[in-house]
Amino acid sequence: YGDASQKIDYVFKVVLIGDSAVGKSQILARFARNEFSLDSKATIGVEFQTRTLVIDHKSVKAQIWDTAGQERYRAVTSAYYRGAVGAMLVYDITKRLTFDHIPRWLEELRNHADKNIVIILIGNKSDLEDQRAVPIEDAKEFAQKEGLFFLETSALQATNVENAFMTVLTEIF
Ligand code: GTP
Ligand code: MG
Repeated sequence: YGDASQKIDYVFKVVLIGDSAVGKSQILARFARNEFSLDSKATIGVEFQTRTLVIDHKSVKAQIWDTAGQERYRAVTSAYYRGAVGAMLVYDITKRLTFDHIPRWLEELRNHADKNIVIILIGNKSDLEDQRAVPIEDAKEFAQKEGLFFLETSALQATNVENAFMTVLTEIF
């Protein structure tokens, strides 16, 4: 799916992080395969998927890594972040605690990843507006203060998922 071509000019590693059940794996499924599942299982260890896109007439292979939000299922931290040039920090707009934990994830990222890593804050499940627990202004303010890109997405409705990845990939590029 996408503009796959044989010759790869660049490979960019991007990592997904955030609490369990915020939708990291479904954001990845939407981006890599244009799929979505409501009965998604918690990730154990590490998984990754790739998608090749054309940016500025160059073919870029995006290698997206996904790990468990649950501590006991998590991958070895240093290996997970090694070589990553982009990061997506995900919370669930209907679960305040997942947003309150973002500073911890950001700290882990800053302790383990390259200092030039491109980071986007993502408020997922924007389709559940009636259950919103995190005002968009709070997230915008936090992102601005920390120098992060920010978007709300819905993996379910495919809203802004492409946009979020393109924001990170074009900035790396
Ligand atoms: P861990 O692997 O445990 O870290 O969780 P995760 O962040 O990968 O969450 P996952 O993608 O497995 O999604 C958790 C639940 O949220 C599943 O039931 C998904 O179907 C659901 N979900 C994911 N994205 C969305 C979304 O955009 N909208 C709605 N309504 N549900 C979503
Ligand atoms: Mg997962």
